[in-house]
Amino acid sequence: MATYDSLGVTYARTRRPDPRIAERIHAALGNVTDVINVGAGTGSYEPPATVLAVEPSRVMLAQRPPDAAPAVQAVAEQLPLRDGAVDAVMALLTVHHWSDPAAGIAELRRVARRRVVVLTWDQRVFRERFWLVREYLPEAAAFDDTRAMPTARLAELLGGAREEPVPVPHDCVDGFAAAYWRRPHAYLDPRVRAGISLLAQPGEEALAPGLARLADDLNTGRWHTRHVDLLTRETLDVGYRLLVSDH
Ligand SMILES: C[S@@+](CC[C@H](N)C(=O)[O-])C[C@H]1O[C@@H](n2cnc3c(N)ncnc32)[C@H](O)[C@@H]1O
Repeated sequence: MATYDSLGVTYARTRRPDPRIAERIHAALGNVTDVINVGAGTGSYEPPATVLAVEPSRVMLAQRPPDAAPAVQAVAEQLPLRDGAVDAVMALLTVHHWSDPAAGIAELRRVARRRVVVLTWDQRVFRERFWLVREYLPEAAAFDDTRAMPTARLAELLGGAREEPVPVPHDCVDGFAAAYWRRPHAYLDPRVRAGISLLAQPGEEALAPGLARLADDLNTGRWHTRHVDLLTRETLDVGYRLLVSDH
């Protein structure tokens, strides 16, 4: 069973595409004629030029909107496509779930004629700038250490890539890990955590003490005193990065 067959049950509810991030992704893809979305999930951020989605989880496939591009159940490591099948391939917040990222990236390069776009995060920046993992949930940060690939290594596997920061808006619509950096109460909601693998995979028991501390700091106002600098910010660079690689 694919991990997202259990993790992804509520994905379509909390993980809707954010229009500002969509703009960044579509700008990175540029003027492409056809695109394949690998690790596509429920279809977030697919531009109109998307001709196929590749996704291993049946549960995620079942949540794709009826008018989304056709999808095939497969993994990045073995794409059921010929060499140079499309102009561009995108893989968004998915590489850290692959069992063999090097093989998967090689497949993206084989299938794309012109451009590969990967959305990932820089774990060093994430650990430093994201208060939730830094101050409350070191267990979650340690879990991410085991799966986050350094962006320099990813760029190397891509055969060279330009790296673009993707700042997270304070009211980000897509509920990924750091989406609620200015809405700290959200992390106390199990429905929010269910859509964030970083918080769903280590298990409730491991996170309970840190979350209890967060609840307490929110009740007493300690969190707000400590993070007063965040409260007036519109966006925050928490380490999310687009890697754009051309052949
Ligand atoms: C966090 S979701 C991201 C989904 C979508 N790209 C998005 O931005 O909303 C990660 C996705 O990667 C998929 N995935 C896991 N292992 C994979 C693999 N080996 N190849 C391709 N996709 C994989 C999961 O099933 C899941 O749908």
